Amino acid sequence: MTTVGIDAIEFRTGKLKLDLPGTFAPQKGEDPEKYTKGLGLTGSSFPDSYEDIVTMAANASYRLMDRKGLEPDDVGRIDVATESSFDNSKPVSTYVAGCLEQVFDGEFGHANKGERKFACVSGTQCVDDAYNWIRAGRNRGRGALVIATDTALYARGDAGEATQGAGAVAMYVDEDPDLVALSTEQGYGSADETDFLKPNQQFPSVDGKRSVQVYLARMREALVDYQSVAGRVHPDDFTYAPFHTPFPGMVRKAALLAYRHVTRDTAIEDELAEEIGRQPRREGFDDEEAFTGAIREYMDGLKGTDRYREWYAETIDPTIEISREVGNWYTGSVHVARISALKHALENDRDLAGEKLLVGSYGSGAQAEIHVETVADGWAEEVAALDVDDQLADRYDLEWAEYEEIHDVHNHETDVEVEPRTAPDAEFVFDGWGPMGERKYRYVE
Ligand code: HMG
Repeated sequence: MTTVGIDAIEFRTGKLKLDLPGTFAPQKGEDPEKYTKGLGLTGSSFPDSYEDIVTMAANASYRLMDRKGLEPDDVGRIDVATESSFDNSKPVSTYVAGCLEQVFDGEFGHANKGERKFACVSGTQCVDDAYNWIRAGRNRGRGALVIATDTALYARGDAGEATQGAGAVAMYVDEDPDLVALSTEQGYGSADETDFLKPNQQFPSVDGKRSVQVYLARMREALVDYQSVAGRVHPDDFTYAPFHTPFPGMVRKAALLAYRHVTRDTAIEDELAEEIGRQPRREGFDDEEAFTGAIREYMDGLKGTDRYREWYAETIDPTIEISREVGNWYTGSVHVARISALKHALENDRDLAGEKLLVGSYGSGAQAEIHVETVADGWAEEVAALDVDDQLADRYDLEWAEYEEIHDVHNHETDVEVEPRTAPDAEFVFDGWGPMGERKYRYVE
């Protein structure tokens, strides 16, 4: 059976940056280390005034198609995952196709287009849809363009304001992929939750502390479900574990829980027992409080062990390097984590071909999904073609007053116009409104 997976990937950040320890923390009267050490963030990306979810998506897609020599006829689907959509009917994918048709000779007239919603997990769901469409043999030799694009803004003053971000990740899903092949096996943890939602409103209503607990609970369920179909997961089976990263501190919590879970009843637990004892088992306790207290104590011990710290440094830390600098990209976040890990491997001369990634996606509301990816032979060439560092370095560093303005520019309730802080250069830009309230876009040479 041929493999199906991600053949190529592109990264597009919003062109503005807010420095969290340097600019945000002093305004909030907070210790900068709350952001750098606590949340694990140094910066957030924002779109300039001529950027939005369509331009970021179209610019990532154009670079991807151009680099891979793809024509519109090669694309049988365009699926966009976003939770920042501005239209309840016309999908963002139609706007993206319209942009791309300005620069390619052909048209996407026979491509199936859609928009998927389930908070941050919908990017992975679009990859799934593409996988299933190809596996079902309905693709007629074509691949799918999958794009995760978001402007993740919170209301000013919301605790989530520190975790904002904006950017797009475009992926081409195809047979015999050059980057990663996807496992057939998947695990889900899903429940009707109200930790984070946007009932017909732009900025989320969030119960931040609860959202952290819901993330952990659903992720654990997804891991258990994955193991029920794929067999036991062992920490040494995976080179990296890219997870949905609303902020790196969240992944730090998830990684510790996951490690405890997957090392239970293994030689690693035995080895660690000499230092921190064995993992508490529920049957060993009369009441829940004593059990959870013992778990907490074990976890505190676990995170201080060399064994865990080494595993974390090798398997998890490389996945959050980009996220630290860009914040939460919602639907794109787990795909940024994958890029981050592969980029780290390339920079450290690792040969990853054939190695495995454990990928954990999550969306509030709430659903987690776990699957495994096998790194393909062409991965190094694909990752070397990315210009992530240049894009990050070229971002315009916002002063506080400029940040306040740009937040208003992208707030659908306020009608504010500001001069762009950057100059468009060979890219799609927002070009005003059409007669039916539609957005218009133009390619700037
Ligand atoms: P907060 O309440 O302002 O922060 O907001 P805090 O007081 O909890 O501090 C954050 C961390 O910094 C804590 O670490 C502090 O101890 C530490 P922890 O104890 O949790 O490990 N800290 C410090 N460390 C060093 N030096 C210091 C210092 N001060 C504090 N001086 C909160 C945190 C997450 C609630 C907020 O950012 C928020 O509401 N974020 C939005 C919601 C969110 O991101 N939730 C994550 C899970 S849900 C999810 O991932 C889905 C999502 O992506 C949406 C979707 O699916 O569509 C959000």
